[in-house]
Amino acid sequence: MILVTGATGNVGRELVRELAATGAPFRVLVRDPARAATLPTPPGRAERVVADLDDPATLTPAFAGADRLFLLTPGIGLDHTRNAVAAALAAGARHIVHLSSFNVLGDPMPAMGRWHHEREELIRASGIPATFLRPGGFMTNAFDWLPTIRQAGYVLDPSGPGRYAPIDPADIAAVAALALTGDGHRGQQYVLTGEELFTVTEQVGILAAAAGRDIAVREVTTAEEAVASRFPHGAPPALAEAIVEGFHLMRADTAGFRTDTVRRLLGRGPRTFAAWCARNADAFRTG
Ligand SMILES: NC(=O)c1ccc[n+]([C@@H]2O[C@H](COP(=O)([O-])OP(=O)(O)OC[C@H]3O[C@@H](n4cnc5c(N)ncnc54)[C@H](OP(=O)(O)O)[C@@H]3O)[C@@H](O)[C@H]2O)c1
Repeated sequence: MILVTGATGNVGRELVRELAATGAPFRVLVRDPARAATLPTPPGRAERVVADLDDPATLTPAFAGADRLFLLTPGIGLDHTRNAVAAALAAGARHIVHLSSFNVLGDPMPAMGRWHHEREELIRASGIPATFLRPGGFMTNAFDWLPTIRQAGYVLDPSGPGRYAPIDPADIAAVAALALTGDGHRGQQYVLTGEELFTVTEQVGILAAAAGRDIAVREVTTAEEAVASRFPHGAPPALAEAIVEGFHLMRADTAGFRTDTVRRLLGRGPRTFAAWCARNADAFRTG
């Protein structure tokens, strides 16, 4: 039995789709069943369980019988990972596929990477064989641009000339599904990026063409604006600081690397940003 955390999120929702298309039995862990209502969980082969990574007492029954775990720990800090690892050990899990970040590769490691590094260390220390998925920036981060697009038709650009190769969370999910259901992935670390390098301005141009509307780009002028470009509803101070540092590194063009890992593992190239925009254009048309 595969247990999927983060099932209502960008990666998890796609992973549920992937697993539903295989014959593998799986269980999704959700906090709010209403948010999971549209997940494709085939009756008889997929279960839903209500639990919270903040609440260890809910995890024991949720993890029971799960031999494989997709572990997504949102936000910052280590508590979710600690709680999940304890529950996975109690359940006798034999494989954790963990969503980490390519920021763990930074030298020096940026703050954003240190949280992920410490989470990886906790999982390693558990002795449960693991696969670490280390993606770069997600294409879905473009949804964070919606408030300024809808209010005033512009996107805040925190990184200027810096390029990166955004990845579609659906590709991360496809790799996660492969690692959870296939052989030879225990002990592996997969650095996952798209194949196209973009500045934010270039991304906005593609998005505007797909949405059929003008979208302006405005360079951020303050640290607050940089944070708002990624977390429109605000972020706790430690996360805000890490975000500003991350954009500073992007601006210096240190995040512009690509890997062929998606292509190598899936036997096809990663999805393009234009394709992501075409699928999600409706969200950017209104307002
Ligand atoms: N965005 C990027 O560019 C990027 C790059 C590299 C790595 N990452 C990493 O990717 C992860 C985020 O992935 P994502 O975008 O797929 O996530 P997401 O869309 O933000 O969704 C977060 C998921 O976590 C669940 N969740 C939140 N708090 C929970 C709790 N206390 N107990 C159980 N579940 C909880 C949410 O469920 P509810 O429906 O209940 O809220 C939701 O399913 C983070 O670890 C992030 O650091 C992101």
